[in-house]
Amino acid sequence: MQRMHIHGGRRLSGRIPISGAKNAALPALAATLLTGETVSLRRLPNVVDIRTMTRLIANIGSNVEQGGEGLSVQASGDLDPTAPYELVKTMRASSLVLGPLAARCGRARVSLPGGCAIGTRPIDMHLAGLRALGATIRQDRGYIEAVAPRNGLIGGRVSFRRPTVTGTEDLLMASVLAKGESVLENAAREPEVVDIASMLRKMGACIEGEGTSTIHVQGVDQLHGADHAIIPDRIEAGTYLIAGAMTGGELTLEGSRPDHLRPIITKMRQAGCEIEEKDNGELVVRNDRALISVDVTTREHPGFPTDMQAQFMALMTQASGASNVVETVFENRFMHALELQRMGADIEIGGNLAIVRGKTALTGTDVMASDLRASACLVLAGLVARGRTVVHRIYHLQRGYEGLAGKLTAAGASIEIVDE
Ligand code: EPZ
Repeated sequence: MQRMHIHGGRRLSGRIPISGAKNAALPALAATLLTGETVSLRRLPNVVDIRTMTRLIANIGSNVEQGGEGLSVQASGDLDPTAPYELVKTMRASSLVLGPLAARCGRARVSLPGGCAIGTRPIDMHLAGLRALGATIRQDRGYIEAVAPRNGLIGGRVSFRRPTVTGTEDLLMASVLAKGESVLENAAREPEVVDIASMLRKMGACIEGEGTSTIHVQGVDQLHGADHAIIPDRIEAGTYLIAGAMTGGELTLEGSRPDHLRPIITKMRQAGCEIEEKDNGELVVRNDRALISVDVTTREHPGFPTDMQAQFMALMTQASGASNVVETVFENRFMHALELQRMGADIEIGGNLAIVRGKTALTGTDVMASDLRASACLVLAGLVARGRTVVHRIYHLQRGYEGLAGKLTAAGASIEIVDE
């Protein structure tokens, strides 16, 4: 295992390139299973989860070739519609192959993903949606087996009890080859859902309404190959905006989509962060004035994203006043708060509310990463803490941030990666 040593107190200045979005690349890789023709994907981030998903689709039978610009994938020939435990246990987003395999092969056998540090994370809505499209679902020795009717999935009405990002993506991919029309109600509206819909449309799917709560799909007989560039990662971009706001320098983000960052930028500006949106799409964050505490409640898009809650909490430790941080999406997403307390932060936790009182001077110490975004929070805290912060178990970080240490070091941070 590896750990990250961060020597805090340095101002960050410079340019940071934003990579492709992990949470758009994962459904995009799964969607390549929907056709026997070649699909080219560009701007895939070089992170562990993408390598895991690539291994999974190759395991199923896809031919995956690394090209100059990205990956070229062809799921032709015999496919083994199985997502084995060994792969799913490392990445629960493997459940994204359920829909494509049920649609393309008529059946899917996927190891039930376990929970993780932030919650139990069931997939009951994925399964209920597949049933609504005519699939029969059964559980067998830790695996979920979905079997489509003899003539394939049948278009139907999928009504989510609450918005689910990968649930919406899974059922979108299942419905594009179903017979007849499907309607996804109370669908997730995240930019990553919009991106997978645009990719599926390039492959010949008939989809309307992505980005709203109701998505209409007219099933087609088959899909064809396409070329698709993954959208930039809004959570990575938001993380670097906070890094710039906390360290008092000037960071320019290259290649992000400010329109995907609207809830993050709005909330940061309320806290006194100076964020400039340049005509060329670049974002510049400066921090030359005191930060003020603001309340934040996480919501499904277009609300403030839960994947930015931990990072925003780090920012609030450096703001004057009390900030009420309310987490409404996951049931256990304050693990990072306990580690921030060990660095000297004044945080009171009660249920899904954390009250952060600042401004507190943080002190570097040994801290433990528990999940992807908690890791990012601890790195941000380490950037401003006095002395050295050692973040343990940074494999969590490497699952979803491409070259984070390199990007921050290039902007002036003092970071080393050390083998444990
Ligand atoms: C996606 O997870 C993201 N992952 C998560 O990002 C993100 O935090 C989450 O959406 C919310 O935005 C990927 O896209 C790969 P949900 P997902 O289904 O789809 C409950 C990161 O850091 N639920 O929208 O799994 C669920 O427990 C990761 O990059 C059910 O009850 O999240 C949660 O409380 C972390 N039954 C809520 O719904 C289901 O069948 C929303 O979860 C599905 C979900």
